[in-house]
Amino acid sequence: MSDKELRVSKIKDGTVIDHISGGYALDVVKILGITGKEKKVLTIAINVPSKRFGVKDIVKIEGKALNSQEVNRIALVAPHASINIIHNYAVVEKLEVKLPKTIEGIVKCVNPCCISNSDEPVVSKFYIKTEEPLLLKCHYCGVTLEQADVLGQL
Ligand SMILES: Nc1ncnc2c1ncn2[C@@H]1O[C@H](COP(=O)(O)OP(=O)(O)OP(=O)(O)O)[C@@H](O)[C@H]1O
Ligand SMILES: [Mg+2]
Ligand SMILES: [Zn+2]
Repeated sequence: MSDKELRVSKIKDGTVIDHISGGYALDVVKILGITGKEKKVLTIAINVPSKRFGVKDIVKIEGKALNSQEVNRIALVAPHASINIIHNYAVVEKLEVKLPKTIEGIVKCVNPCCISNSDEPVVSKFYIKTEEPLLLKCHYCGVTLEQADVLGQL
């Protein structure tokens, strides 16, 4: 290691979210509900050089194993992310993020008149119109949301 490099500590147990498109790491952190106040090591690298993508972001979360719902949420903001489960400092499992067929209760419809925004106890629900660029169609009112609409809600 040269004197121009800085070594960040490895995490013992937790999750590394790798291959996030450059600039989207903070969105990933937000969609997971992580605030930084959890008293656990959280390492965020933004716009680091990547052979595969030119630049990429990485998020390393100590002491947290993601459930499948959390992995699916990540797909909304970082469809090419790979999830690495770390145990005893080593990668023990790799998961690809994948958009589920429907997105329920995570995103709000942008149509103020949509029944999912009324006083009725209706949980929002969207279908995937296209994955890239991300377009979601509301199950109730048919309105289309773009990824920017999702990011703006985080
Ligand atoms: N204990 C650890 N603490 C923090 N980060 C780790 C730890 N172990 C691995 N990583 C990071 O997790 C990611 C995946 O590690 P891996 O060793 O599988 O790399 P890789 O071979 O480059 O994987 P890929 O083919 O998915 O790019 C890398 O970004 C690596 O730096
Ligand atoms: Mg790699
Ligand atoms: Zn709607």
